[in-house]
Amino acid sequence: QLQQQQQRVAQRLLVVANRLPVSAIRDGDGWDLKLSAGGLVSALLGVKQNFETRWIGWAGVNVPDEEGRASLTEALALKGCVPVFLDEDTVDQYYNGYCNNVLWPLFHYIGLPQEDRLAATRSMDSQFNAYKHANQLFAQVVFSQYQEGDVVWCHDYHLMCLPKFLKDLDSHMKVGWFLHTPFPSSEIYRTLPLRSELLKAVLTADLIGFHTYDYARHFVSACTRILGLEGTPEGVEDHGKLTRVSAFPIGIDPDRFIQALETDQVKLHIKELRRFFAGRKVMLGVDRLDMIKGIPQKLLAFEMFLEKHPEWQENVLLVQIAVPTRTDVPEYQRLTSQVHEIVGRINGRFGSVTFVPIHHLDRSLAFHELCALYASTDVVLVTSLRDGMNLVSYEYVACQNSKKTEGVLVLSEFSGAAQSLGAGALLVNPWNIREMCGAIEVALNMPENERKERQRHNFTHVTTHTAQAWADTFVSELNDTVVEAELRTLH
Ligand code: G6P
Repeated sequence: QLQQQQQRVAQRLLVVANRLPVSAIRDGDGWDLKLSAGGLVSALLGVKQNFETRWIGWAGVNVPDEEGRASLTEALALKGCVPVFLDEDTVDQYYNGYCNNVLWPLFHYIGLPQEDRLAATRSMDSQFNAYKHANQLFAQVVFSQYQEGDVVWCHDYHLMCLPKFLKDLDSHMKVGWFLHTPFPSSEIYRTLPLRSELLKAVLTADLIGFHTYDYARHFVSACTRILGLEGTPEGVEDHGKLTRVSAFPIGIDPDRFIQALETDQVKLHIKELRRFFAGRKVMLGVDRLDMIKGIPQKLLAFEMFLEKHPEWQENVLLVQIAVPTRTDVPEYQRLTSQVHEIVGRINGRFGSVTFVPIHHLDRSLAFHELCALYASTDVVLVTSLRDGMNLVSYEYVACQNSKKTEGVLVLSEFSGAAQSLGAGALLVNPWNIREMCGAIEVALNMPENERKERQRHNFTHVTTHTAQAWADTFVSELNDTVVEAELRTLH
């Protein structure tokens, strides 16, 4: 019977995330579709075999007119995407407000600056209503696409109520939920006013996944302490109903990067960059311009390094790609100004008429440019204050093997990736500027054999723990969980 049931395993996968892998911009009567930024998209792009995947999410644009909605739906269908339309007020309250000004800082242990705290507390109830409303809209679109046997995989902190709304619509739907951020210690989580409602809604999923065991453990202990439920090695038990909770560390599609390095376009670009950088060491940062990424701390560490090591001045430079994100949220606006100020100061102090120590870009790069940059730089600095996983570190490692000398990964111990790439990386505490400054020195002077050994270790990990393997494991565990639950009810 178990086998029979397993043969019914769904091949269709409905992936639901707030942001679709492509974002739309109006272009006259048509639409310009651009690849969205962020680790979630980067990983999900690697999930293409073994499932017939349909993506459901927001295209990042307000489309009030029916005509526009119809034409965007059509354009997105060609990419396997189905849009959820959110009006401006919902985006403001749900996305800017509850998701990015409440849950995001809380889950990353950052908290809000003093001046935003009271205002955020005051608007939290109405923002939470908008959050639930948005989750309802997502549920309706998922339901309109759903066929019996499909697996529905909900992603991230934007959609914590979605499993409940889906189960309300069809209690037999197979629903998984995955968090791409850290889940904080229950001591932090329990400060959230509507803490119980969110936990209960997530627990209606059949399987809950996190990037690391620590996040899974924090979640289970929040359920124990806040809801009084029993935590077991498998998950959380509520009066005989078990919700499985586990760690599924994500990966990337390494072949996408490795193959890109073989293209003429990337090879040419690498050549140009090497010519441009000739005789100097180059360090790289690639981040969304987000407070969790520790960009100011990274810049201060570089400044301290240049101060302490005059022999390196004009011999090392930092290329910092800072992709704008959530630009309507005040905290992100302040961060942009702060970063610009520090970059200006360092370039003013240590630059010359012919040399600029920090090449700072407020935009994303085309894929071929990014690959070339990864491949032609000596050190990458990933200094997140907290990060669910951080796939820039994986992408960098994937692009390094084409070089004779392997680049060094300096990685925050507060990123999920520190648990998988820790042995090959130089781990740092990004709150400690002096320590980061020391790590820069070690990275720039690291002997070739050590660099090779560290890279070999990381490369093996990145090429074996792929996004596809991550999705396969999660979905097959979700299928098994549902079958086991059905069998339990039969007995
Ligand atoms: C993180 C989140 C994703 C999000 C991405 C980009 O990686 O986990 O859910 O899509 O950031 O942020 P944005 O707000 O632009 O979608």
